[in-house]
Amino acid sequence: MQTLTNKRVLLGVTGGIAAYKSAELVRRLQDQGADVRVVMTRAAAEFITPLTLQALSQNPVHTELLDSETESAMGHIELARWADLVLVAPATADFMARLVAGRGDDLLTTLCLAAECPLAVAPAMNQAMWANPSTQQNCTSLADRGIHLFGPGAGLQACGETGLGRMLDIEEIVIQTAGLFTSGVLAGRRVLITAGPTREAIDPVRFITNHSSGKQGYALATAAIEAGASVTIVSGPTHLDPPDRANCVFVTSTNEMHNAVQEAVLDVDIFIGVAAVADYRPVSVSEQKIKKSAAPSNKGITLELVENPDIIATVANSEPKPFTIGFAAETENIMEYARQKLVAKNLDMIIANDVGDDDIGFNSDQNRTTILWPDRTEALPMMSKSALASRIIELIAETVEKDD
Ligand code: C5P
Repeated sequence: MQTLTNKRVLLGVTGGIAAYKSAELVRRLQDQGADVRVVMTRAAAEFITPLTLQALSQNPVHTELLDSETESAMGHIELARWADLVLVAPATADFMARLVAGRGDDLLTTLCLAAECPLAVAPAMNQAMWANPSTQQNCTSLADRGIHLFGPGAGLQACGETGLGRMLDIEEIVIQTAGLFTSGVLAGRRVLITAGPTREAIDPVRFITNHSSGKQGYALATAAIEAGASVTIVSGPTHLDPPDRANCVFVTSTNEMHNAVQEAVLDVDIFIGVAAVADYRPVSVSEQKIKKSAAPSNKGITLELVENPDIIATVANSEPKPFTIGFAAETENIMEYARQKLVAKNLDMIIANDVGDDDIGFNSDQNRTTILWPDRTEALPMMSKSALASRIIELIAETVEKDD
């Protein structure tokens, strides 16, 4: 299970021989799901090239405070805001002294001053430098300010001496990094969500669609991310900003949504079909705008429709099947239709709501739903779509855990 899903780690690398291990550290943090960006001091760049860390982190490596090019891409304040954690590994004695003094004489120390997220340092230095009272006093000051100290470890050092001062093993740094974050109920799970309406073209200017706003699907994506999941949304057209940290695929028609889901579903644990998918599409799309004069007067025109693929049923009948949750938006016989859908589509859970009531459902910010499982039912009170999303995510997590 990944322990750092959705977490943004700003890795500071300072100039000690252990800097060569930072390349491995970038990889291992990424293995745990972290998004890693690297800042190096000038001295660090003497030990390992910025290009190596850039290639591994897949992001530009920042080294200079006063570099207009990198500042225009992502300035130091923006970088500090971006991070959920600043981790400095290796941290030299000099860097720790500058951190204690509150210096801002290079990019990394300035970032540390600007960062409001937790800060952790993994010291790495010769054993005598580590034992020096100045370094020891600096460590105490850092710990007193709530800065996390990872290590150092003991053993043979690059200089040939033995003792305390080696940078902790990479695996241990990763474990201690993960330990700084509380893991949510969906930690490490991969979730795919469809959201919003789909649109079926009639001609170049007209289409068939529905009232779905995408609010419930986007709220569920946000709640799943907060619960530690790695989330992909396949979304139809909406006016909403995509949730931060979600991987988004934007589509228009049901067929496009179907294809995008088929591709993304291959490696997910949980599928939530929230989209209000158009069940039918015109048999053919007119290449030119259909003219009013095309119809004999008073006769109107007839649109012939064909059935669209049922996206959720395809997912729920695939092998291996992810844990599959559907929505049933109904205007009458809500519970009866919802249970029929749960069975017919082979779902693990279904969330039923009354879209005939203007105060809840489609465009509203509120929703009142009932959740059905194959063996039980739970009615939830009226609540905001974001509160409902958090409750649904909790219930999904409980059910998935029981099934494991
Ligand atoms: O049958 P109905 O459209 O009411 O079922 C609703 C559920 O099925 C929702 O979860 C919706 O996202 C999903 N669905 C789908 N593909 C369709 C139709 C509905 O995934 N073509």
